[in-house]
Amino acid sequence: MSNIRLKLGNCIELLRELPEGSVNQIFADPPYNLSGKGFQTVKSGKMVDCNKGEWDVIEDIHEFNETWIRECIRVLSDDGTIWISGTLHNHPSVGVTLKKLGLWIVNDVIWFKRNAAPLLSKTRLAPSTELIWIASKSKKYFFDYDTAKMINGGKQMRNLWQINAQRHLTKHPTEKPEILLERIVMLGSKEGDTVLDPFMGSGTTGVVAKRLKRNFIGIEISPEYHEMAQNRINGIKTNGKAVYSDKLLKNNEQLKMFLEEKAEYVN
Ligand SMILES: C[S@@+](CC[C@H](N)C(=O)[O-])C[C@H]1O[C@@H](n2cnc3c(N)ncnc32)[C@H](O)[C@@H]1O
Repeated sequence: MSNIRLKLGNCIELLRELPEGSVNQIFADPPYNLSGKGFQTVKSGKMVDCNKGEWDVIEDIHEFNETWIRECIRVLSDDGTIWISGTLHNHPSVGVTLKKLGLWIVNDVIWFKRNAAPLLSKTRLAPSTELIWIASKSKKYFFDYDTAKMINGGKQMRNLWQINAQRHLTKHPTEKPEILLERIVMLGSKEGDTVLDPFMGSGTTGVVAKRLKRNFIGIEISPEYHEMAQNRINGIKTNGKAVYSDKLLKNNEQLKMFLEEKAEYVN
């Protein structure tokens, strides 16, 4: 059985209620601050202003990042790791903050979405990556090297992860693929550990954590998304199955789809 705790509210306040050193792994997919005037994206083949929601417009991104990361580090166990996703809009700020707080940067994972939407303008390269920082409190941290190697077909896993963007399972505008979270949770925690997601959104981290027999704490500021995550996670069975990695191992489906040119572009 997994212990699942979903909290509604601002993570900066709610993290203060959690005991020091009480979680083993943190995955944070914070506001990237890419919405608002001047940021454009492609929708149905047209250039439009990017608007993920009010929650994605942050006045002082450095102050915001330092505040929530500081609280996360307080609740992280001494051998735990924090994984933070981002794009160029926020990852320089996150990187500087991790250094400023004296953390050990374990890796920068480049998540490459081969099927990212093409760029209509001819002024720059088409963005198709996100960066995931992995950091710890010291050089002694938990990392499941053997599982990484196993799901990479027996070869040492590198920090370039080619995982396609997926069609969303919910109405959340920035839902992460379950396959990405499955890999993160498998490499950064063990069965029975506690995984925390301070920006839970539609609950992807919780879905994967529960399925893989981890305990989960999720925090979400929007009542709508909190309910969405609750419903989604309630429907998950705790059976220890690595649904996506097993599939990948069997016949590397994503790669096959691309070789056969069957994949569709996804924003
Ligand atoms: C990038 S999305 C996370 C998406 C999530 N990874 C998923 O797969 O659905 C960030 C989420 O954080 C929430 N959020 C923004 N600021 C917050 C805060 N201060 N405390 C808690 N949640 C917050 C937003 O409402 C949004 O749902």
